[in-house]
Amino acid sequence: MQKKTVKDFDVKNKKVLVRVDFNVPVDEAGEITNDVRIRGALPTIEYLLEQGAAVILTSHFGRPKGKVNDKLRMEKIAQRTGELLGREIKYSTEFVGPLAAEKAKALLPGEVLLLENSRFHPGEEKNDPELAKTLASYADLYINDAFGTAHRAHATTAGVADYLPAAAGFLVEKEIEFLSKALENPERPFVAVIGGAKVSDKIGVLSNLVEKVDALIIGGGMANTFLLAQGLEMGASLVEPDKTELAREIMATARRRHVNILLPQDLIVANAITETAEFRVGLPGELQGTEMALDIGPETIKEYAKLLKTSATVIWNGPMGVFEIENFAKGTYMVAEAIAASGALSVIGGGDSVAAVENSGLVSKMSHISTGGGASLEFLEGKLLPGIASLNDK
Ligand code: 3PG
Repeated sequence: MQKKTVKDFDVKNKKVLVRVDFNVPVDEAGEITNDVRIRGALPTIEYLLEQGAAVILTSHFGRPKGKVNDKLRMEKIAQRTGELLGREIKYSTEFVGPLAAEKAKALLPGEVLLLENSRFHPGEEKNDPELAKTLASYADLYINDAFGTAHRAHATTAGVADYLPAAAGFLVEKEIEFLSKALENPERPFVAVIGGAKVSDKIGVLSNLVEKVDALIIGGGMANTFLLAQGLEMGASLVEPDKTELAREIMATARRRHVNILLPQDLIVANAITETAEFRVGLPGELQGTEMALDIGPETIKEYAKLLKTSATVIWNGPMGVFEIENFAKGTYMVAEAIAASGALSVIGGGDSVAAVENSGLVSKMSHISTGGGASLEFLEGKLLPGIASLNDK
């Protein structure tokens, strides 16, 4: 890692502002349904406390668009963080202002304060320098451990680094380490599995990865557009006709680079996306009327799994079908199993692929599960993430 990390600073008796990504999913009652993101930041927080720092945590939660929204207050997140850390957490009902400043000032080494939702402030997403400066005045050092938000150039993720010494936390360090290892220095064969609904969501990822991998496995709704681009009839399947040219370009690059590009050779097709819909195995090019491709078929699963078993590095982002429905989930779960069985260095990103790995109990079999959805995609696109670029160089 070219950037300074939390270990490059003496933090004893220092106030350390830590940007975390506590943007956790919640249910209708506002109860946290998955706390992986909070757990992900614990090593940095615990390290800082052990070293004698006072820790000020800041995060956004949801998209309140610069206004206070009582449903998006951080109180329950503060509570859960305290439970996970096994110590009391102080909570400021203000993000910046006299109350927050007072609480930050009074914070002692070994104590933790969580500030209110940063996106209640209109200056956060505008990366307002005045806001960044105010926030910086609460601390002696800034640590960014919010990988999930590293693709945003906001006051808490980037701007504040202009006013304080700035370094990466352990989570950001680990994310960068695995993603870079896979992208820049992969053991080969290097295989990318890209799925999800639309080609348009992953143009940058496909264009960047096709230049780096040995094989590109395509599944999910986006495969339909690639099949359509080969002149195959896809019935009522989700397709993006305006992206067929792009699909052809990606296939041409793959041919030029001798990249093995794998598309579904058979599909699970149905007339409706419901639990009870009748389904059959169909071939690309012979889908009729209202039939839709909703998962990869059994022959495709075999082919993809065979290739994955021989891989040494795998990146996976996006499901192979409508995996929320059991009859259309097999492709996604079989890919998860094949990656787990491959023994390859595996990096999993994107909410759906991560959920599939979690549901199948395969988390421990993967090398790295990214906490960043949009951020990991932008990293795979080859973009410099502002939340990382703004940190001090080693
Ligand atoms: C995420 O959940 O992907 C991050 O927390 C970023 O959230 P955002 O898309 O609202 O910026």
